Amino acid sequence: MLSLSRCTARSISLRALRAHHTQRPPLNSVTEHDLAHFAKFLDPPAILSTLPPVSLPADELDQFNNDWMGKYHGSSTTVLKPKTTQQVSEIVKWCNERCIGIVPQGGNTGLVGGSVPVKDEVILSLANMNKVRSFDPVSGILVADAGCILQSLTDYVAPHNHIMPIDLGAKGSCQIGGNVATNAGGLRLLRYGSLHGTVLGLEVVLPDGTILDQLTTLRKDNTGYDLKQLFIGAEGTLGVITGVSILTPPAPQASNNVILALPSFKNVLPLYEIVKRQLSEILSAFEFIDRTAYDLAVKHGQGRALSDQEVEGAECFVLVETSGGRREHDEEKLADLLESLLEAEKPLINTGVLAQSPAQFASLWALREGVTEAVSKEGKPYKYDISVPLSTFQEVVDGTREHLRSKGLLGDHAVKHVIGYGHVGDGNLHLNIVAESYTPEIQDALEPYVYEVVASHRGSVSAEHGIGAMKTHALHYSKSDVSIAWMKKIKDLFDPHGIMNPGKVLE
Ligand code: FAD
Ligand code: MLT
Ligand code: ZN
Repeated sequence: MLSLSRCTARSISLRALRAHHTQRPPLNSVTEHDLAHFAKFLDPPAILSTLPPVSLPADELDQFNNDWMGKYHGSSTTVLKPKTTQQVSEIVKWCNERCIGIVPQGGNTGLVGGSVPVKDEVILSLANMNKVRSFDPVSGILVADAGCILQSLTDYVAPHNHIMPIDLGAKGSCQIGGNVATNAGGLRLLRYGSLHGTVLGLEVVLPDGTILDQLTTLRKDNTGYDLKQLFIGAEGTLGVITGVSILTPPAPQASNNVILALPSFKNVLPLYEIVKRQLSEILSAFEFIDRTAYDLAVKHGQGRALSDQEVEGAECFVLVETSGGRREHDEEKLADLLESLLEAEKPLINTGVLAQSPAQFASLWALREGVTEAVSKEGKPYKYDISVPLSTFQEVVDGTREHLRSKGLLGDHAVKHVIGYGHVGDGNLHLNIVAESYTPEIQDALEPYVYEVVASHRGSVSAEHGIGAMKTHALHYSKSDVSIAWMKKIKDLFDPHGIMNPGKVLE
């Protein structure tokens, strides 16, 4: 006999709005009966399952059940790949009635274990929702299905002389819906701001299957609560984003970049001040990598290595990008900056390497963007994506290394490297601990140590990657009890059965 227990109907009462989640019935596993229901409105290729009658071998679902780093592992039996918002709505409505957990999945490039199941939830892949719905070259407003890959959108708007307001190393795989769901930051945040500003509208399937159409293309709309903001950065815990309306900026007429080699991390902050002052409106990125991060990028073939002379004595590197309207003007400003830096009485930099061609421009960026991939090739990364005062970046990295040394965990068979890189302009440090393997000893040495350091600087335990499954227990280091209580109330209100991405963001 198949048991199809329904969730007990519950109205949203004052009790449900208390600080803690109300007791929820346990979530159910997918059954053959559920597959039969999905088959009524999904084509056969849109249902991947190890259950009969589909009966795929379990390894066919590996790419969906395991995250990009190989750190988080789910055991879902079923992946659904709808093509339309209506199909998403039908899936979610059914899962809500049946109390089946759902993990929305974009490109599965998330770095906090948010995109894979904690148990055997259904994986709802947005990969087949990949059409541009409209683009207005005058306003630059793009409306696209959530499953569009970021790079494909960049390619789509390029002939119209526009760029996406967001760029990140995972652009070839991550989806715009995943970017919005994580409120991804990336390499252009300094110039174009966060998705909370550039996303104009969203279409979202709510946990009961209702389609919330807020896909406006208006720049200005002050008609009460701005509900879309709740879904930006909610990591799929409040609904499934199916469509995104986003403002794309005009493409800069000229872009340049330069890598500056610094003798000491202490110089980064004064350098940033000078660079901001001298480049002003054309500064579009100010990114930092420490020496070990640079060495790993080179070792694993990311970008072209600088010469021995250029890297000699460098403790860290800064990548500066300019984007502006007139090439000669921008080049002159950059050349003036370099000249003044090199000729200063006490130079903050050892040297600067300026890209002279589009290929060199890409190669310099690859040294910075490629660190993530290099780190993953080198070993198993523990990734802490934190906001702390810029003046403490190096102290945090060095302190963590010393802490691990004091625990006897530094060395080839445990932690191989402790590195720092990130978005200086956004106050965002990526502290990565690269280990031989993921072990409970290293985990226990790092947590709560890292979070306590962050809290001591009144920082954030997640600057841009989100909370996912990794940091649910650490949310309180950055959010007050009152904030967490209200987050729980909002979750209960939208998703009383707790089906949307269970085990993520909130415990
Ligand atoms: P997924 O990984 O599939 O999902 C991420 C989260 O969003 C999950 O919780 C998932 O449930 C939810 N989700 C996905 N799609 C939807 C949807 N349609 N509706 C509702 N919820 C959804 N992040 C940065 O912020 N800045 C960076 O610079 C950056 N660089 C990276 C570089 C590399 C090489 C890699 C591997 C990752 C990087 N990331 C970065 C992390 C990651 O790429 C981003 O978080 C990205 O936005 C995730 O998009 P995705 O489509 O892969 O989402
Ligand atoms: C980056 O800035 O490179 C990304 O956020 C990814 C990472 O932290 O490795
Ligand atoms: Zn980053």
